[in-house]
Amino acid sequence: MTLFSSLIRPSVVVLLVGTSLIGVSQAVAGRLQRSPVSPAKTKEAKRLFKQKCAKCHGQDGAGNNYGQIIGATNLTDPEWQQRVDDQRIINSIKHGRGQMPASGEKLTDEQITALMLYVRTLKK
Ligand code: HEC
Repeated sequence: MTLFSSLIRPSVVVLLVGTSLIGVSQAVAGRLQRSPVSPAKTKEAKRLFKQKCAKCHGQDGAGNNYGQIIGATNLTDPEWQQRVDDQRIINSIKHGRGQMPASGEKLTDEQITALMLYVRTLKK
């Protein structure tokens, strides 16, 4: 192997892996946009949020006193809304994050997707 090819190969691999990762995330994003969440689930998500999430995030998502003490994300923040993708929100609800408990064992995937879509509507 020449010095040139040993230098060039790893970067080609990185490039290929990088490009395919972008492809995968676009596929996931595309599937999520089309994922069927029935109107009933959308309504249920609003109720679930009030029941399970508002105790830290507040009714409007901005976070109540308790939430602010433990560092709950302000879900209305447009900058945060723009920074995170749908899959990350789903993962955080499912597996928990920091002081936030996981909901993956209590909620179905459809309920979690509906909650993610509801969180998107909280943006100010
Ligand atoms: C016990 C309080 C608590 C409850 C209940 C709670 N959260 Fe959270 N949530 C937090 C905290 C604290 C964070 C900040 C986590 C971090 O980034 O360290 C957070 C972060 C988040 C985030 C941002 C995650 C990210 O990836 O940036 C979302 C979205 C969210 N919560 C949605 C929900 C939803 C939906 C529910 C109800 C199913 C819920 N939370 C219930 C405390 C809570």
